[in-house]
Amino acid sequence: MCGIVGYIGHRNATPIILNGLKRLEYRGYDSAGLAVLQDGRIEVRRDAGKLSKLAALVESQPLNGHVGIGHTRWATHGEPSARNAHPHVGSTGEVVVVHNGIVENFLELRADLEAEGVKFNSDTDTEVIVHLVERFLASGTSLEESVRQALRQLRGAHGIVVLSSREPDKIIAARIGNAGGVVVGVGEGEMFVASDIPAILEHTRQMIFLDSHQMAVVKADGVVVKTLSGQVVTPQVHHISWDPVAAEKGEYRHFMQKEIHEQVRSLTDTLAGRVDFDEGTIRLPQLNLTPELARRIQRIYITACGTAAHAGMVGKILIERIARIPVEVDIASEFRYRDPIIDADTVVLAISQSGETADTLAAMDESRRKGATLWAIVNAIGSQAMRIADGYIAMQAGPEIGVASTKAFTAPLVDLYMLAILLGDLRGTLPETERKRLVADLRLIPDLVSRCLDREAEVVQVAREMRYIRNILYLGRGINMPIAYEGALKLKEISYIHAEAYPAGEMKHGPIALIDRDMPVLAIAPKDPWYEKMISQIEQAKARGGSVIAVATEGDERLPALCDHIFWVPDAPWMLSPVVTVIPLQLFAYHIAALRGLDVDQPRNLAKSVTVE
Ligand code: F6R
Repeated sequence: MCGIVGYIGHRNATPIILNGLKRLEYRGYDSAGLAVLQDGRIEVRRDAGKLSKLAALVESQPLNGHVGIGHTRWATHGEPSARNAHPHVGSTGEVVVVHNGIVENFLELRADLEAEGVKFNSDTDTEVIVHLVERFLASGTSLEESVRQALRQLRGAHGIVVLSSREPDKIIAARIGNAGGVVVGVGEGEMFVASDIPAILEHTRQMIFLDSHQMAVVKADGVVVKTLSGQVVTPQVHHISWDPVAAEKGEYRHFMQKEIHEQVRSLTDTLAGRVDFDEGTIRLPQLNLTPELARRIQRIYITACGTAAHAGMVGKILIERIARIPVEVDIASEFRYRDPIIDADTVVLAISQSGETADTLAAMDESRRKGATLWAIVNAIGSQAMRIADGYIAMQAGPEIGVASTKAFTAPLVDLYMLAILLGDLRGTLPETERKRLVADLRLIPDLVSRCLDREAEVVQVAREMRYIRNILYLGRGINMPIAYEGALKLKEISYIHAEAYPAGEMKHGPIALIDRDMPVLAIAPKDPWYEKMISQIEQAKARGGSVIAVATEGDERLPALCDHIFWVPDAPWMLSPVVTVIPLQLFAYHIAALRGLDVDQPRNLAKSVTVE
């Protein structure tokens, strides 16, 4: 979950690392630090709290050098404090480490090291790594070999970067398992290391992604990638086409607001090159979906976490309806522990913005072991999920920095719709005329989303009125039931308001007891096949004194008479309506949090990529 940046080259490393960390602050913001090799010595600056505190510290105590590493932390072991902030320096002061992951056997390792007389300066698991590296270095081993041997002692998943004043011409980076990515950026006479692409995108677009059990020896003029057993591998250098400006906030107050507004563009990009409107066909070449495989599939499991899982719930309805394949949606953290029934005719489809979520990757690994075909819908190019899948759909959302996911929710909705059409076509369950109609509907999407965004001011007005609520119940049915879950998640994670979501039909089986004047209801009731049912549920809520906000289709004449507030959305084909109905809910959550003066982009306790179990 933590963010890592490293630099080696001809420029001053400090501003490059600080800037990189700034772009990664969404990964963790409990503490931050950097280490630079200055006049042959390792110098460290670190502090608890946000990056701005570190920046102020560096301003008062500057660091100059051509090699350095930095870290922004999401605490796992040890409270967020200056002493637990990375980088961690060993006893000799000659080695420094930043780390992403959890050293599962750190208590044993620490006890062994302490028995040898090593003094620890923090409560972190990471500190054992630096002492282990030092121990091997002291016996005359090279830095590379010392890191390798230290890594062999660790249990768990790790991304680590190591620097030593003994061998100042290199940085060593390594990845074991699914603790987050390790990316090497290739420059001219300079090289970069990072946990995520946006940290270094302003400097280079040429990137190498380490696989698990690989390490990179990074020098200013090149990189050598090896396996942990020392075998040299020829890495694939990926060209990243993301726009670096997309990782800037621009005129917006928060990344989340900017990313909500970027959805017209990200959805246009999602369609580009994949939809042939003349022929009425879909192309998803990176999925490697052959007609033979399409016909063979008996069952699809969609596995994901959080927002991505909500997208999967919409995908289930689309794939079952259009391609007539049974689909189950499984929360990734549960999936692998329930011994799912998987065989060679099963497809497991993982959805992940980061492509590095530990639970999702573990679910993929388990599915691989059981013989499934593995697909992924992923935003981060080169991420682990993308690399281990047999086929993938790249989301085209562009960099998403706000911790609350928005554009990486709507992009997979459209990807899943396209996938359902492609599967239906290849399996022969989708008549040609119907296919052409579904494909033609895609053309409407960017404009429909744009029209929702045009109504932002109306949402702000309701947010202003409701900003002090303490609870709220979100209700939806059918294809918009997952949108109730997503709307509630958006609100709770950034505004800290208790928001619950229910399939509206379930209300009468219990939750209706909650409804009174203090429990508003947000009902998603566009003109879709479940509209009439939603109306009766809204009536039931009103009868119990609840105030109701409805997401309604423009022109609806019944809902204004029933509800206290309306979020209007344009009329959309029902299978695409979630892309539209979620927009006011994203805006509502955003504006409530902003009006309450909360830190929208970095909500408490959260991190963007959840790379621990
Ligand atoms: C909520 C949110 C999270 C993520 C979840 C999965 O706004 O962002 O619920 O959706 O942690 O992350 P990815 O998609 O990176 O696997």
